[in-house]
Amino acid sequence: MAERSAHESELIAKAGRYLAGGTLGNLSEDVILASGRGSRVWDASGREYVDYLLGSGPMLVGHAHPEVVAAVRAQLERGSTFFATNEQAILLAEEISKAMPCAEKVRFCSTGTEATLYAMRVARAFRRRDRILKFEGGYHGMHDYALMSMAPAAPLPFPQPVPDSAGIPRAIESTMLIAPFNDLETTAALIDRHRDELAGVIVEPFQRVLPPRPGFLAGLRELTARHGIPLIFDEVVTSFRLAYGGAQEYYGVTPDLCALGKAVGGGFPLTAVAGRDELMAHFDATRVGREQFLPQIGTLSGNPVATAAGLATVRILKRPGTYERMHALGNRLKAALQQACDRAGVPARVVGEGVLFEVYFTDGEIVDYRSTLRADRQRLVRFVRLLREHGVFRGTSKFYLSIAHDETDFAITARAFEAAAAAAAG
Ligand SMILES: Cc1ncc(COP(=O)(O)O)c(C=O)c1O
Repeated sequence: MAERSAHESELIAKAGRYLAGGTLGNLSEDVILASGRGSRVWDASGREYVDYLLGSGPMLVGHAHPEVVAAVRAQLERGSTFFATNEQAILLAEEISKAMPCAEKVRFCSTGTEATLYAMRVARAFRRRDRILKFEGGYHGMHDYALMSMAPAAPLPFPQPVPDSAGIPRAIESTMLIAPFNDLETTAALIDRHRDELAGVIVEPFQRVLPPRPGFLAGLRELTARHGIPLIFDEVVTSFRLAYGGAQEYYGVTPDLCALGKAVGGGFPLTAVAGRDELMAHFDATRVGREQFLPQIGTLSGNPVATAAGLATVRILKRPGTYERMHALGNRLKAALQQACDRAGVPARVVGEGVLFEVYFTDGEIVDYRSTLRADRQRLVRFVRLLREHGVFRGTSKFYLSIAHDETDFAITARAFEAAAAAAAG
């Protein structure tokens, strides 16, 4: 890999001078990405990488897909935003409703953080109760309720939450209950004990990269339905990714509400809350009355450039064979990664699905947040750096696959896995 250019070094120095923390808050400050096309990205030094970050997920059809670019360009020339309903937003809502089993009605917002915030608020309005149960290690964005036991360094006994950020009012803690993902028995006992206070249960149906154990989601569905508690699937990552109809389709379990994001905006700030009509009615004052009404207003909600990009993206994803091909290539990548680690004698577990997976450097089984803490995090940081030196780019937490990845990418990546695993063995 070539040396970093003077231009990129200057940009990094300037970022340190003007950006808080020297970054946008996501990746570390040691790289500036300049462009992307298909499965590849280039940094400001002109170095090319096979990209498994995909903008943290949105670029599911690859960077700068010609059909998405054309749709966006056409809209840009007609105006960027109106704060009024637009044609593409209506067509995208129709597409979401047809795709996602629970989505009788749709409301757009701009970030996944907003989408989960509103989903929780709808559940509270509907149930007229305050408390929400979430799972340890589950990520639902950056609002106060989401930042409870998302990544606790020292987890507390269930259901006590640990705030993940400074600046969150202490009062929020008493509104959240924390349960262990993939442990139906403990979760069932918590739901049973708190059923009269619970407004809703929110879960990432595929938590980070952890698949649900057989029966876990169906069990959650059964328990929440029994007590009339809304079940919220956070499908910000999984919608249009695990399957066209998201995790709901993939696992065959239908929640009451869901949050959608990432791919649905085609690389633009667009997300959505969707769900059963009876719950989504809280966004409509004429149906629920002023007392139960939930205003949801955003300057850029359903912005026409973003909805044009989202609509073009889902139309590409809908073509026959998309998901079969993506899962097949991803499963081969997972196998290549596991083999590379095994050959290098590095204890490793490759966890997830073909379209979204991660390697944990440990011998132990990975089923929930606490088991991930046993993995060697330092070795992962080294591994990610080594992969980058061999032309493979990813973030700090997982591999995202797109429909643009092909056999050439596979060959480059498999070689990088071998080299990085061998180097990380030491
Ligand atoms: C499952 C999940 N929910 C919510 C969010 C928050 O989305 P955003 O970053 O758009 O606020 C993310 C972001 O990665 C996510 O992975």
